[in-house]
Amino acid sequence: MQIGIIGTGYVGLTTSLAFAYIGHDVYAIDKDARKVEKLRQGEPPIHEEGLRELLQLTRNHLVPTTDYAGLADCRVIFIAVGTPTTPSGEADTSYLEQAVIELADVLKPDTTYYLVVKSTVPIGTNRKVLTLLKNELKKQGKNTEVAVGSNPEFLREGYALYDTFYPDRVVVGAHNREFFNVMRELYDPILEQTFEPPEFLPRPASYHLPPLITTEPTSAEMIKYAANAFLALKISYINEIAGLCERVGADVMEVSRGIGLDERIGSRFLQAGIGWGGSCFPKDTLALNAIASEYQYDLDIVSAAIKVNDRQIQRILEKIQSEFKVIRGLQIAVLGAAFKPNTDDTRDSPGIKLARELCRKGAYVRMHDPIAKVDFAKLEDCENVQQLDTVPATLDGADVVVVATEWRDYINQDWNSLLKPSTILIDGRNCLAKYSFEPHIKYHGIGRGNRR
Ligand code: UDX
Repeated sequence: MQIGIIGTGYVGLTTSLAFAYIGHDVYAIDKDARKVEKLRQGEPPIHEEGLRELLQLTRNHLVPTTDYAGLADCRVIFIAVGTPTTPSGEADTSYLEQAVIELADVLKPDTTYYLVVKSTVPIGTNRKVLTLLKNELKKQGKNTEVAVGSNPEFLREGYALYDTFYPDRVVVGAHNREFFNVMRELYDPILEQTFEPPEFLPRPASYHLPPLITTEPTSAEMIKYAANAFLALKISYINEIAGLCERVGADVMEVSRGIGLDERIGSRFLQAGIGWGGSCFPKDTLALNAIASEYQYDLDIVSAAIKVNDRQIQRILEKIQSEFKVIRGLQIAVLGAAFKPNTDDTRDSPGIKLARELCRKGAYVRMHDPIAKVDFAKLEDCENVQQLDTVPATLDGADVVVVATEWRDYINQDWNSLLKPSTILIDGRNCLAKYSFEPHIKYHGIGRGNRR
């Protein structure tokens, strides 16, 4: 099938590549000409495993372009543009609206198109998109037939291709049977797993065929927000339990294992730490809260999850203060600028948030990340923060070291020889829990009340 995908960010690009790989012909549209050029050269614009290989494998089925014109020949068109947070916490749908307006210019009369909203959007956006598109087409006197539906994405950065090829479920929200049929046809190789897996992305032996969830658009929109908010609150829950573990002398890692084995709870997303970040949880929890307020509804549990998450940075400061009383003047190394390992994404990164707080309190901060570059502009008034290229240089002279991202690089360090005597090491991800620290290192985990 010939399909179009507007937006080549994480979601748009991975979806384009997966569809191109399983046999569709894909126009991948982006406004950013430099990004498009990179894609044409087979150069991934973001760090994500397998992208480079897949760009190579799909080069005969993928057309990266800035030009909307090719969309006229696509039966199905996805919109996967960003929906950033506005100052009031709502999702900003202006890129989406702009895309719809530009799309209307190129659609042909006497033709039926299926427009799929993949971006995470406020409840009711599908309806608004349909109205906007119909109005634009009417203005141009075109009798084009359009159906709009929702197909949210659940991919994790770092596993974006894996999650696209081997999803837990595919959700489609629409009002019209034909829409479901077209989506079923499009997704068939994934739903039935009939494609030959790329060499670097083998199908897991335990993988089960994913169900196709068909529902109406509002529920599909809600599924996306409710899923992300639930995962965020699951982490906040264990982080709050971690705080209590420290007080009572329990170990949250044991607690997490003990409760996670209950299948009703499940062990994933129960790792206590410095808090959740990234492009989805912070944005989507705020957006869900904004939706609730619009309907005069108190979403207390989601507000609490956000509050607990904000507090996690404070908890690290408290740990430092328990050793030094004052933070001003301390040399602090923060390891990890990406919001999680295996990505170069620093959006809402806990490491960067921590660096900013430490700077504001008068500390001298050195940051390190194996691949992510810190955008110092985001650190506003903080002058005393710099990024160094190697772990030893970052740790040189540090009074306190905080591991903010559980990169393998950090897990594999020889900490005992790397750290000077009496350095305070705060393991913000409990990722060094198995390391045998010598007594000259003061190790603090998160929620590990029974051990330093
Ligand atoms: C998330 C969702 O998992 C994905 O389904 C959705 O489509 C987009 O948002 P992502 O943001 O890529 O994906 O990262 P994820 O792996 O979910 O981690 C989010 C944050 O939670 C990270 O900062 C991570 O470090 C943190 N986290 C995750 C924990 O602190 N503890 C955990 O147990 C799991």
